[in-house]
Amino acid sequence: MERIIKATENAFSPEANFINETIFHNANGYLGIRGALSEGTPEGCPSMRGIYLNGFYDIIPMPQAENLCHFVNEKETMLNVADTMTIRLFIDGEPLNMAKGKVLSHTRTLDMDRGITKRELTWENESGKQIELIETRMASFKEPSLFTMEYSARALNFNGQVEIKSYHITDVRNFSDPSDPRLASESRKNMYLLSLEKTDGCSVSVSETSVSGLRMCAAVSEETDFSGCGGNGIGDLLVGESEGVFSLRSDLKKNGRVTLRKYIVYTDSVRETDVKTAALSKMKAVRSHGLDFYYRAQEAFLKDFWNRSSLEVEGDDALNKATLFNMYVLLQSAPRDRFCSIAAKGLSGEGYEGHYFWDAETFVLPFFTMTQPEIAKAVLNYRYATLDKARENAALLGHKKGALFPWRTIGGRECSGYFVSGTAAYHIDADIAYAVVKYYQTTGDLDFIEEKGEEILLETARLFLDTGFFDRDGHFVINDVTGPDEYTCMVNNNYYTNCAAKFNLSWAVRLFRILENNGREKKVREKLKLSESELSEMEKASAAMLLLYDERLGINPQDDSFLQKPVWDFENTPAENYPLLLHYHPLNLYRYQVCKQADTVLSYFLYENEQSEEVMKRSFRYYEKITTHDSSLSTCIFSIVASRLGFKEEAYRYFGDSARMDLENLHHNSTFGAHTANMGGCYMAIVNGFARVRIDENGFSVSPELPDSWRKLTFHQVYRGSLLSLSADHEGTKVELLEGPDTEITVYGQKQRLSKGQCVYCKKV
Ligand code: BGC
Repeated sequence: MERIIKATENAFSPEANFINETIFHNANGYLGIRGALSEGTPEGCPSMRGIYLNGFYDIIPMPQAENLCHFVNEKETMLNVADTMTIRLFIDGEPLNMAKGKVLSHTRTLDMDRGITKRELTWENESGKQIELIETRMASFKEPSLFTMEYSARALNFNGQVEIKSYHITDVRNFSDPSDPRLASESRKNMYLLSLEKTDGCSVSVSETSVSGLRMCAAVSEETDFSGCGGNGIGDLLVGESEGVFSLRSDLKKNGRVTLRKYIVYTDSVRETDVKTAALSKMKAVRSHGLDFYYRAQEAFLKDFWNRSSLEVEGDDALNKATLFNMYVLLQSAPRDRFCSIAAKGLSGEGYEGHYFWDAETFVLPFFTMTQPEIAKAVLNYRYATLDKARENAALLGHKKGALFPWRTIGGRECSGYFVSGTAAYHIDADIAYAVVKYYQTTGDLDFIEEKGEEILLETARLFLDTGFFDRDGHFVINDVTGPDEYTCMVNNNYYTNCAAKFNLSWAVRLFRILENNGREKKVREKLKLSESELSEMEKASAAMLLLYDERLGINPQDDSFLQKPVWDFENTPAENYPLLLHYHPLNLYRYQVCKQADTVLSYFLYENEQSEEVMKRSFRYYEKITTHDSSLSTCIFSIVASRLGFKEEAYRYFGDSARMDLENLHHNSTFGAHTANMGGCYMAIVNGFARVRIDENGFSVSPELPDSWRKLTFHQVYRGSLLSLSADHEGTKVELLEGPDTEITVYGQKQRLSKGQCVYCKKV
């Protein structure tokens, strides 16, 4: 299947343009460039023009109206950095403007094998002169600091002067919308220009943030190609006070073409000590390799990526394409260094201000753990690097021990202004611990556990020990926390949180014992001054954890008081009042049984052994009726759990919503960025849902049950260093070991041993 997404229009549509800025963004885990029109968006049309560096932020005030003790008063915010994507085109002095003249054809393409976006435009200006424009953009995976643009214009029906002006604009601001809590509420200037100069033929700017004191450098260098213009041309660079402008002028003959190539390098002081020197030295290397070298490297990188994460559904091309798009955006969002993580919107927009949430570990990481474990490791390394800040956060909240990771952050500090549905979501600790355990079970990487993983597990387990207590009946209870469902906050014994804490406590001890059996526990024991009694306390708390069960309904209540509340009046809630969070005061929502997203249902996926199938089935049916899926993190989980419980039809329906969410803007806010958690969830809905892949202490098992309309599902997985190809239809499953050491896996309950090149076929039982 061609891994290509296309959008074609014959007239300019501001709405389509806004959403296409997200769909056709370029990113490589470090740089993110919105697919905004290079010439600028016509006046009055919505646009979020932005370029972002993962992990680069400023700190802005977040004043609390009633500033109680230890409330968070500042937050980190991802910055829009120097605009280097602007290129304007003039035909005999008249600018290209999509809202004027005639758009004869306009196609945008995302090529996920070549790692580029392409814009092909044929446009006629008001004097009837037609021009063809082809623009290719790339955020290089080979050199993450590099963004390139290739801009080529052809005179279709005239001889005349064409001017292309390529900009380096340092005065930029972030997007804001005071009416939407998911966006920054005011537009601020966060970056100050320190220098802008012409050096080594490039325009080079260095800017500094106002509060965090971080620096960034942008170096821009242009290359011209007049070989096809049929006339002549010149190009020169002028650097002013706040802008660099490279102008290319050419007298084009009819059918003549001119091309501008733009190399842009970004560096920042999160990673480099001298941002300018680093940028110039990278630029030197980039220019000496040339664009074709990076195009080839991009293809080679993606060939390897798709080989390790190959996935194909036969029988549903549209869903297949949507899924590939989701996986590609995940790759674009994921870092490969320890300085950053995966933001809720990846690098595709400013929604949630570039913050990292539990989305990264719970929803996105599994895709990487199962296909590119080194990326998963980078994300876990980032969390480890922020462990000290998590310790400080825990202390601030009155804990005597342990670490509490922030609900939302960039650099590691808590950035949630509304603690009720932010900081109180203690499950984030257990979510990170869960990701560490899954990473270990999938890769067998005990080095990571010894160096970092076990420390995370023990510190998060300590936090739960410190938060909860043994009640009069001997149950371990956890009070005043918020579970995943943000329409129900500050509750006691949230079923999901308790399951997650139980796992966290128990695995902190289990992994410690594994280290001990290998003689590798000393470092962490000494560093954390860990005692045997503390370990046995963890085991005890885990075993005694209260997991609520309601005898009357035969389900797991979401928390202590959930079932006492009346059910929300869904019948009289008009369709336009969804998402509810934009129309009802939180207190109003908290007093009813209404769920924003999968909560107890999520625990049936991650902690499925805690309940019998019958209980899970009844609960699923119960929560299905009261969940609005206002959060994008919901339908994917309902799909997975439905698959596992044998509700085939529902599994497929929920999956469809999840797979197409951004491509079809189903939540009406993909304009502000893609929903990466849902994208990861969509992958899990296929692999952990339909194919029922499970990786746990018993190893790797699979028992596919495909949706009726699919003929076949083929996908690759990386398990313990071996690359497996799995291919399932309605009769059975074929597994082949493509690369790596011998391995054992379980197919429909039967153990199979495989060596390289070997293939087994198992009939469905
Ligand atoms: C969800 C959270 C999620 C956040 C960022 C919210 O709407 O309720 O679970 O972490 O979005 O995606």
